[in-house]
Amino acid sequence: MMRASKLAAAALLLSGCAQQPSQAPSATAAAAVEPLDIQRDYHSYANTREFRTEHLLLDLGVDFSRRVLEGTVELRLQRLSATAAELVLDTRDVDIAQVEAAAGQGTWTATTFTLDPRDAILGSALRIAMPPAADRVRIRYATRPEASGLQWVTPEQTAGKKHPFLYTQSQAIHARSWIPSQDTPLVRSTYEARIRTPKQLLAVMSAVNRPEQKRDGDYRIRMPQPVPTYLIALAVGDLKFRPIGKRSGIYAERSVVRGAAYEFEDTEKMIDVGERLMGPYRWSRYDMLVLPPSFPYGGMENPRLTFLTPTSIVGDKSGVALIAHELAHSWSGNLVTNATWRDFWLNEGTTTYLTYRIMDEIYGQARGDMERALGQQQLVEAFAQATHDGDKALAFDQRGRDPDEVFSSTPYQRGHLFMTYLETKFGRARFDAFLRGWFDAHAFQSKTTEDFIAYLEAKLLASDPGLVPRAKIDEWIYASAMPADAVYAQSDAFAKVDAQRAAWLAGTLPTARLKTRQWTSHEWRHFLDNMPAELTAARAAELDRQFKLTQAPNNYIATSWFRVAIRTGHAPALPAIERFLLRVGRMLFLNPIYRELVKTPDGLAFAQRVFAQARPRYHPIGQASVERIIKDAQK
Ligand code: BES
Ligand code: ZN
Repeated sequence: MMRASKLAAAALLLSGCAQQPSQAPSATAAAAVEPLDIQRDYHSYANTREFRTEHLLLDLGVDFSRRVLEGTVELRLQRLSATAAELVLDTRDVDIAQVEAAAGQGTWTATTFTLDPRDAILGSALRIAMPPAADRVRIRYATRPEASGLQWVTPEQTAGKKHPFLYTQSQAIHARSWIPSQDTPLVRSTYEARIRTPKQLLAVMSAVNRPEQKRDGDYRIRMPQPVPTYLIALAVGDLKFRPIGKRSGIYAERSVVRGAAYEFEDTEKMIDVGERLMGPYRWSRYDMLVLPPSFPYGGMENPRLTFLTPTSIVGDKSGVALIAHELAHSWSGNLVTNATWRDFWLNEGTTTYLTYRIMDEIYGQARGDMERALGQQQLVEAFAQATHDGDKALAFDQRGRDPDEVFSSTPYQRGHLFMTYLETKFGRARFDAFLRGWFDAHAFQSKTTEDFIAYLEAKLLASDPGLVPRAKIDEWIYASAMPADAVYAQSDAFAKVDAQRAAWLAGTLPTARLKTRQWTSHEWRHFLDNMPAELTAARAAELDRQFKLTQAPNNYIATSWFRVAIRTGHAPALPAIERFLLRVGRMLFLNPIYRELVKTPDGLAFAQRVFAQARPRYHPIGQASVERIIKDAQK
């Protein structure tokens, strides 16, 4: 069980005494004065009160030479208003050639449309004239090479070096850059697709894939479960498939499949634990696709086919909390979905809590607690980096803000701590039953923060009146400062690391006598991430000499080490840092390294030089994120 915190420093930082002035959102300052409508998705133009997509059909050609997807999307809609004469869809940087409409089984007829001016965050609303009774539209369109939700990977950036690779990343609001659609998590639809690719390549989607099918460049794929657009995903590459369990397997380039199959061999066990905790797994299969290293995330929970970074394949399963996390989204997120991006914490906080529970079950509580402790440290960093004080809350007004810019560890870690708080108060048995009930009662629905609070009040708080007052729930969800009675995890393994670090810093334990042989990347991260600010380059060099940290093959250790090396001015690490930044595109690694670099004029110059070269290799989302770090540093 969790024990009360000895992480005094963390608790202090998180209590939120150092408050920054909250800034008014810029893009839609006017909207901010209107009262917030919690049911509404301010990140979509779609008129979902009049039409709702029930089924989506894609027919797309993948043109690697022009970096364009071209073809049609058909939307079969539920008409909620008999009189509505306009359908409004989300798009960003797509070229629309033609729009047709039809009613029921009727024939297609061309209809008129307009594309609004482009909003920097939301893109362009596509307004389609809907004839009376029309409930289907078909749009002929093409994407642009700069589409924010696509990465066109060159052959040199792949493992095989021979074929190009394409993948999508639709969360949060990037589906609109490759599918004109009602791009809001409020709406879910089934989908099917016909994807044409170069003959040697295979297309896979967040849907029913058939690995045995002939490679002929013409693939038909369907998704029988309704999903929001942010979970529609496509990848095209020289992919192989290898089963690892009765309902799980790996898609990857040939040279990557084997390592991935070993690293992720516990997946089937994780699915079993997930089912015991949260109820039946409702997506039939859980396969994983390993992407090229430029993938900007660790993982993305695309239903039936999680997308993964290859940087988590490190040989010792130390990175598999990532799998537990993406798998847990099969319940928290994919089954019960955040209604709008204001409710993102419902997806990620619940998932983070469940991740650690799965890790406890399979690898033991000691491992789970290390993962929790590392998560807490991320929360401390997120609080320190918050540009808006309100962003420290779980649910907050995001009007006028780009979800990618708002993104931080706060919804993950504060959300997890909120769940842990409830678990501690009500006991594990009652809390587990409550969570499982939440998933069962709302399967395949989108829910708001306030829906969750209402369910919590009815099912848990009311069962033991006075145990947790409603005001406490509001504090967790809406206040910036962390509640003082949050229950933090304590890792015994990390306490030992702390003792060794302290002795080494005091000079009583020589570098050669540090007992690191049993350490996994977790202990190394904890050891390095908590080095004091005044550590000298000479002492950093001692560590490097003894443990060859600059050459660390493990990406997590490398990232923590590079931050220490940059901070202390340990110059011998710079060439390795440059190579790393050119190879890897995962933001969890890039952002902390760039943030550390830009703190000094020399580091900023180095960051700018490396970024100029690395930029075309990063995903558009990763490019934007590094750009923000460099721009903020120049202010
Ligand atoms: N759904 C997220 C990734 C995401 C979030 C993409 C918001 C776009 C917008 C995914 O489940 C995730 O949280 N990935 C983490 C995994 C980690 C917390 C184990 C990541 O990529 O680092
Ligand atoms: Zn997640």
